[in-house]
Amino acid sequence: MVKLGVNIDHVATVRQARRTIEPDPVAAAVLVELAGGDGITVHLREDRRHINDRDVDILRQVVRTKLNLEMSIAPSIVKIACRIKPDQVTLVPEKRQEITTEGGLNVSGQLKKIKKTVKTLQKKGIVVSLFIAAEKKQIEAASKTGAEFIELHTGRYANMKSKKTADKELRVLAIGAVLAKSLGLRVNAGHGLTYLNTRELVETVPYLEELNIGHSIVSKAVLVGMENAVLEMKELINSCQQGDN
Ligand code: PXP
Repeated sequence: MVKLGVNIDHVATVRQARRTIEPDPVAAAVLVELAGGDGITVHLREDRRHINDRDVDILRQVVRTKLNLEMSIAPSIVKIACRIKPDQVTLVPEKRQEITTEGGLNVSGQLKKIKKTVKTLQKKGIVVSLFIAAEKKQIEAASKTGAEFIELHTGRYANMKSKKTADKELRVLAIGAVLAKSLGLRVNAGHGLTYLNTRELVETVPYLEELNIGHSIVSKAVLVGMENAVLEMKELINSCQQGDN
C-alpha cells in the first residue's frame, strides 16, 4: 500500500501571515497522525518563511509515525538535521525567490557535494531521499550517492493542462520509477498532487512507496478539518489499483 506523508508547511504559512502562534503546525501533525497519516513532512527553508526551528524541535518529540525533513544541502541546515535526527531527510533544491520548490535537485551536476551530505546524514542514522526529476541522468547520479530513496518530482505532471500531456508525463515518471528500482533505489513521489490527480499517478507509476502531499490537503483541511482531509486522501490512495500490481 502506498503511504501518505502529509506536508504541513502551509499550516505554518497561515501562522506566519500574522507572525503569531496560530495555527500551530505541531497541532496539525497530531491531527494528521490521528486521522491515519503515515508521516509528517516539513520543509525547513533557509529563509524560515513557514516552518521554523522551534517547529522541527517540537515535531521531533511529538511525531510518532515518521518525520521527513525537506531541506537544502546548505551546511547550516545539515547541521540542524544532524542534531534533530528526523527519520528521513529529503534533499531539495532551494531558491529564495521561488513560491515553492521549482525543479528537482541537480544531483549529476553536484555529485560529490551531495554524496558527502548523504553520508553525513546517514552517519546520524537518517534515511536520505533525493527529490529529482524523472530524468535518466539524475536517477543514475542518485544511485551513485548512496541515498536510499528518490522522490520523483510530480510537479510537471500536476501542471499539465490536457490529458494527453499529463499521460505523457505519467509515462516519463513510470519509466523513471522502473529505472530507479533497477538501480536499487526506493521510490517516493510528490509535488502538486491533489484529490483529482493522485489516482492516475498511483495506478500508472510502479514501485511507489510514499506520496508527499501538502498544499491540497491543507487547503481542504481549512474547509473541512484536518482529520477529514487526511482521511479522504488516505481512502483515495487505498482504493487505487497500484501500478506494479
Ligand atoms: N515533496 C517535496 C520534495 C516538496 O518540496 C513539496 C513542497 O514542499 C511537496 C512534496 C509537497 O508539494 P505540495 O504542497 O504541492 O503537495
